[in-house]
Amino acid sequence: MLISPILSTRNISKRFGGVTALSNVSIRVGPKNLSLIIGPNGSGKSTLINVIGGLLQPDDGRVYFNGKDITRLSPHERFRLGLARTFQTPQLFTSLSVLENVLVPMREYYEERVLEILLSDSWRLREKKYVGRAFQVLKLLNLDHLWDAPASDLSGGQMKLLELARVLMSDPQLIILDEPLAGVNPSLANEIMSYLRTLRDELGVTFLVVEHRLDIALKFVDYVYAMHQGQVIAEGSPDTVIKNPAVIEAYLGG
Ligand SMILES: Nc1ncnc2c1ncn2[C@@H]1O[C@H](COP(=O)(O)OP(=O)(O)O)[C@@H](O)[C@H]1O
Ligand SMILES: [Mg+2]
Repeated sequence: MLISPILSTRNISKRFGGVTALSNVSIRVGPKNLSLIIGPNGSGKSTLINVIGGLLQPDDGRVYFNGKDITRLSPHERFRLGLARTFQTPQLFTSLSVLENVLVPMREYYEERVLEILLSDSWRLREKKYVGRAFQVLKLLNLDHLWDAPASDLSGGQMKLLELARVLMSDPQLIILDEPLAGVNPSLANEIMSYLRTLRDELGVTFLVVEHRLDIALKFVDYVYAMHQGQVIAEGSPDTVIKNPAVIEAYLGG
């Protein structure tokens, strides 16, 4: 990769007692890439993204974001630098409207900087800016027509999209998603993957996705990392990775 990566890991290792969950994992994610991590159950995918997100500390190795060593930073500090993640179960306020759900995290985010804000422009101006951004994001996810509906009215798939909309409000550079297609019907699953492409193109967001529904996810991504027993055993375009004998073997063996 000639372009400097937005995210990279160098020789990450992680053990849980006697289990080696990750062993010398080095990846480089280019800016505005839609990258996918695949691998059979137990191959280390969740551990890797938890190390990248800061939920787990590696035993060895480093994590870099925009060239900065973030290995020891908390998830919150990483979030402030633009490295965000969504949760498998959307963290929504079901009695609030779709728009309110998108705006709430902004209030929390900025409340910590109240003084700074009071000294700069007014709350009202900011609120206006957030509402504009909220509608831009909701529109990209085809939720804008539902802005006034209570979140409890949304389908399960729409709730996942709303969770994504909330994360997008902070203008992250990279979003990590763990199994965004889990429990979603095929047509919505295709829709979710195509939204990720739209967000990549329209907002310049980089995505790192863990997903095991390969039939759907592979059609949409730029780059694939295949993991097996805590190591990256193949990487490259979806076509080349899925034809790699070691990858086929890993899936059949698993
Ligand atoms: N908190 C934990 N405690 C002990 N073992 C764990 C823990 N998390 C993961 N592991 C083990 O590490 C290995 C990798 O797990 P994981 O990263 O969850 O794989 P994947 O997400 O690919 O299914 C597995 O052997 C798993 O049992
Ligand atoms: Mg997992």
